[in-house]
Amino acid sequence: MKLPLSDRLLACCGFIRPGDRVADIGCDHGYLGIHLLKTGIARSVIAADVNEGPLQSAMRNAVKFGVRDKMRFYLSDGVRNIPHDFDVMVCAGMGADTIMSILSAAPWLRDSRYRIILQCQSKRPELRQWLYDAGFRINRETLAKDGKFVYSIMELVCDPGHAITPTETYITPQLLEDNHPLLPEYYERVLHGVRLTVDGMKRSGNDQLSIYEMILSDLEKLKEQIYVNRS
Ligand SMILES: C[S@@+](CC[C@H](N)C(=O)[O-])C[C@H]1O[C@@H](n2cnc3c(N)ncnc32)[C@H](O)[C@@H]1O
Repeated sequence: MKLPLSDRLLACCGFIRPGDRVADIGCDHGYLGIHLLKTGIARSVIAADVNEGPLQSAMRNAVKFGVRDKMRFYLSDGVRNIPHDFDVMVCAGMGADTIMSILSAAPWLRDSRYRIILQCQSKRPELRQWLYDAGFRINRETLAKDGKFVYSIMELVCDPGHAITPTETYITPQLLEDNHPLLPEYYERVLHGVRLTVDGMKRSGNDQLSIYEMILSDLEKLKEQIYVNRS
């Protein structure tokens, strides 16, 4: 039986190290944890969801795919009700506000012993800024495509004292370093979004306009670097 794992979730799995104890927060169907156990990458998986229905579905799938004995299940808002014995937490398919509220409610996660993998569905620049202000640093960031959407997936560590510039909250140095084949497509989408923001601000006379014009100008300067050596 084949697990229906999306490229987006596969990319999240790419950050898991052999032997990791994983906490999948907002596990829904549980496929991420099941894949990590079936492939022998993860040592154990905590699967948590705030809703009973998804959690039940994850439990049924764990039985179906023969990994029930290596998974623990928790009904939990974020990490409130889960044990702390894991190495890496994954939050995928969630919006920025949910991710920020989960991390805000758990100061104990701000510890260099934990790695955090985030795949955020909305307001990524705001989230990246918030993460740096909260003492996290993006260690690596990559991209994945599902359907017509390109998603960014980042690995964070707690490492206070680092900063991120407004432009870097859109295209991070880690994404440039990763240089994924999807980077030009992601970049064009980001650029298009910032252009729309600038146009809207010009029409409404928004006092943040100069900041967004600077971001746009900085992003346009990245074009050559992003397209170099690509056929
Ligand atoms: C869109 S699904 C994503 C499922 C899976 N992680 C993925 O990426 O395919 C979001 C899941 O997060 C759960 N969720 C939303 N807010 C949550 C919270 N505060 N704590 C735990 N789970 C949450 C929802 O119940 C839902 O199952």
